[in-house]
Amino acid sequence: MSDADWWRGACIYQIYPRSFYDSNGDGIGDLNGITDHLDYVAELGVDGIWISPFFTSPMKDFGYDVADYRDVDPIFGTLDDFKTLLHKAHDLNLKIIIDLVLSHTSDQHPWFTEKPEYYVWADPKPDMFGVLTPPNNWVSVFGGPAWTWHEEREQFYLHNFLKEQPDLNFHNPDVQQEALDAAQFWLDMGVDGFRLDVVNFYVHDKELRDNPPRDADLGPAVQFEGDDPYSQQNHIYDKSRPENLDFLRKLRKLMDQYPGTFTLGELGDDHPYERTVEYTGDGLLNTCYNTQLMSGKHKNLTTDLIREPIEHFQSLCEDNWPSWAFSNHDVVRVASRWLPDSDGFSQNPDCSKMLIALLGCLRGTAFLYQGEELGLPEARLNFYDLQDPWGKHLWPEWQGRDGCRTPLSWNGKEPEGSWLPVAEEHKDMCVEKQIQDEQSVLNFTRDFLAFRKQQTALTKGTMAFLSDDQDVLHFERSHDGTNLFCCFNLTDTTQHIQTFLLGNPEVLFSNNFEGETLEPFGFAIIQVG
Ligand code: BGC
Repeated sequence: MSDADWWRGACIYQIYPRSFYDSNGDGIGDLNGITDHLDYVAELGVDGIWISPFFTSPMKDFGYDVADYRDVDPIFGTLDDFKTLLHKAHDLNLKIIIDLVLSHTSDQHPWFTEKPEYYVWADPKPDMFGVLTPPNNWVSVFGGPAWTWHEEREQFYLHNFLKEQPDLNFHNPDVQQEALDAAQFWLDMGVDGFRLDVVNFYVHDKELRDNPPRDADLGPAVQFEGDDPYSQQNHIYDKSRPENLDFLRKLRKLMDQYPGTFTLGELGDDHPYERTVEYTGDGLLNTCYNTQLMSGKHKNLTTDLIREPIEHFQSLCEDNWPSWAFSNHDVVRVASRWLPDSDGFSQNPDCSKMLIALLGCLRGTAFLYQGEELGLPEARLNFYDLQDPWGKHLWPEWQGRDGCRTPLSWNGKEPEGSWLPVAEEHKDMCVEKQIQDEQSVLNFTRDFLAFRKQQTALTKGTMAFLSDDQDVLHFERSHDGTNLFCCFNLTDTTQHIQTFLLGNPEVLFSNNFEGETLEPFGFAIIQVG
C-alpha cells in the first residue's frame, strides 16, 4: 500500500509495549520483543501498528508522562532498537504509528525546572481564611483538583491528569515549536504517523474561567461510568478551546512535508462528533477516534449501542473519515464488556469472533488492541497487584485500567514476576495454542482480515443501517456497484433473518450461520444484487 490514503479503511493493531513481549526477562515488554514478533503481527493481516509511548519516562502513567520526547526509555530499549523495529516493520509492509503525548510532560522532564514558562502557573484564589485555594474549579480526569501547589514557586500548576503530568502551556509559542520539533524528529526517522494523545487538551482558557456544571443530558465525561467529580462539570474551559485548532494547523503544515503520513486524534469530549468535524475538517487531522464504542463497564450489546454513535457521526461528518475501536489500553476488554449477562470478566469465543468481524465491517479505520485477536477477557486483579494510579484511586468500585493491560500469554508458561501478572485464564488462550486450533479466535481473525482486505465495499464503501431490530444488527456496505449485506446476531440466542428478501444472495463470510438462522453471535456478510 503506497497510496497516501492507505489509512482509509486500514486495520491498525495497537501494541501496549510493556505487555506485548518481554525479550530480556526483566518482567516488562520491550521494543526488541515487538521486533521479534512483527511476523506475528503481519500474519494477522493488519496494515500497521500503533505503539503506545516508549519514550523516556518515570512511568507514573506508564509512559504517558514523557521526560524526553526524543529518546527511548531504557526499560524498552534504545533508539537503535526502535530504528530496527521500524525498518523490519516497513519490510513487512506494516506502517508504524507512534503515540505523541503533547498536552503534558512528566514533572521529571527537564523543562519543568529549567523552563517553567512552558507550563501553566496561577496564584491561589483569594481566600479569607488564608487557605491555599486552587485558582478555579477544574478537576483532574483521574480525580482531585487539576491544580497542585508548588512550594518553591508559591503558585499552583495545572495538570489535567496526574500531578506528575504538568500541562504544557500551548499559549507559549516556544512550547508549540518544541512540540512540532518533537514530531519532526520522529518523522525524519521515518515513522508513518501519530496517534495524538488527548488532542483537544492542548490549550486551556487563558482567563482560567470556572467550568459550569454539567448539562443534565450529557452522559459521563470519562469512560468510567461512576459518580466522579470530572463528570459533574461541563468542560468548556479546560479543553477543546478554539486556539487548539491553530496549533493543529501548524502540525498539518509539518505533516504535509511528509506525504503519506497519518494523524489520529484521540478526542475525549462531550460532543465528540461536533469536535471531529472541527478537528478533521479541511484535512487538519486525518481522523479522530473517541470513546463512544469503548466506554463503560459491563453492558449488554444492542443494535442502538452500535448504531447511535455511527449514525450520529454520519449525520454530522459525512465527509470526515471515522476511526473505531472497541478496546484499548484504557478500557475494559470488549470480550467481557459486551458479553450478555457477563460478570465483567468472562468471554465467549463466538462473541469475540462476531465483534472482530463487526469492527472490521464498520465504515472507517479499525483499531484492534493486542489480545483482542485472541478474544481475551478482562483480567481480574487483586488490589495488591494494581499498578494503575486511577485504579488505586477508584478501587473497589473499579479496578482501573490494569485488567486490559496484563501481559499477553504467548505459550501459557510465562514466568512469574512480570509488572502485572499474566492472567491465569489467558494462559489457556495463549498464542501457541490458538495457532494450533483451527477454530480459534486468532485463526478466525487472520481469515477475516484477509477476506476484509479483498472487499473494497468494506474498506472504502458507504454504510447504511437497514432495520431497527435490537438483537440483529443489519447494515449494507456499498462500493462501485457491489453491495454487501451484513448482519450480526448480538445475542446469545438463535435469531432469524430473511435472506429471501435479498436478490441473488451469496454468502461471502460467516460464522454460526446456516440458511436463515443466526446461531448465538452468528453473523454473515452476504453479497446481494
Ligand atoms: C491515554 C491514557 C493516559 C492519558 C493521559 C489518554 O488518553 O490513552 O492512557 O493516561 O491520555 O496522557
